[in-house]
Amino acid sequence: MKKQHNFSAGPAAIPHEVLQRAQAKLVDYEGYGLSLLELSHRGKIYEGVHSRCIRLLTEILQVPDTHRVLLLGGGATLQFGMVPMNLLHGNRRKAGIALSGAWAGKACEDLKLIAEDVHVVYDGKKQEYRSLPEMLDVPEEDVYLHLCSNETIHGVQWKHFPKVPCPIVADMSSDILSRPLEWDQFGIVYAGAQKNLGPAGLCLVVIREDLLAQCSTNIPAYLRYDIHAKNNSLYNTPPSFAVYMVMLQLEWVLERGGLSGIQQQNQTKADKLYQFIDSSDGFYSNPVERAVRSEMNVPFLLSDTNLEAAFLAEASERGMEGLKGHRSVGGMRASIYNAVKSESVDALLEFMAEFQAKNH
Ligand SMILES: Cc1ncc(COP(=O)(O)O)c(C=O)c1O
Repeated sequence: MKKQHNFSAGPAAIPHEVLQRAQAKLVDYEGYGLSLLELSHRGKIYEGVHSRCIRLLTEILQVPDTHRVLLLGGGATLQFGMVPMNLLHGNRRKAGIALSGAWAGKACEDLKLIAEDVHVVYDGKKQEYRSLPEMLDVPEEDVYLHLCSNETIHGVQWKHFPKVPCPIVADMSSDILSRPLEWDQFGIVYAGAQKNLGPAGLCLVVIREDLLAQCSTNIPAYLRYDIHAKNNSLYNTPPSFAVYMVMLQLEWVLERGGLSGIQQQNQTKADKLYQFIDSSDGFYSNPVERAVRSEMNVPFLLSDTNLEAAFLAEASERGMEGLKGHRSVGGMRASIYNAVKSESVDALLEFMAEFQAKNH
């Protein structure tokens, strides 16, 4: 099989070993004579997968007893609305948000539909989302502060989370499972699965128990976190195969030393790429302030934008996929999630060096 280097932002690289393990059991799940794809989510076999997936997430992410792990459908976008629908009701309908890039912006649009007051405590738009603040002034009355821990399009990542007087709700779609978290800061962490967890179709939500008790009961059942929690994320049919794939990918993470092993590998990959870009005499550039550069998504520009099409075409000929920057910002972007091997980053650097030598 011709194997491509996958730098896509999402759906993104899934470890080859994980795909092979899934393939081996696709038609006949562990000798049962049926595929997991066609088994009831109420049966013993799926229940085993479901609870193992939740157990592994709890263990690897070191989620404490104060928080609950939920597996939901609908992607991260659903959470933009689901969070305020659950948490903002009665006389508690104010929330803060930090606008760090395009994804926080999208969350803000939905928040505005539901909140009585939205406090934009940081707006990075004027600096084209190149930096992040050290501190945030969040009003006491805010029920929560929403932030996006890693902006997939702009390549900006919170390295430390600000101390604020309310729980943080964090969209971690593009950097979940890439570093350890201090859970006491977070009321809710959510993440679409299709970057660091597995395939699309599943959203991880980790929510603090006391917030579950405060969720609105005046919204449709599927939107209620408390109902999903009471039913162990089996209130309705879960995306069962996606849950299975996430379980396999979590086992793969454990084999690589868990979160700390993965974090080290991620840092090495990102450092190499940024160092190369910074020492290219301006042929390549990354617009983000060094202290907040993303370890997951590395956007970069060519000094001569006329060369972009050739760069992408030649990269594709060399088996490198997904390097085109998001349509809203242009340029290039290398997404180097957990499953992107350091050999892939090396291959990219070799190509970038050759391209520069040929075109400078
Ligand atoms: C940071 C971030 N948040 C939210 C989303 C939306 O996720 P979904 O497509 O699962 O709704 C994305 C998708 O790329 C993302 O990168």
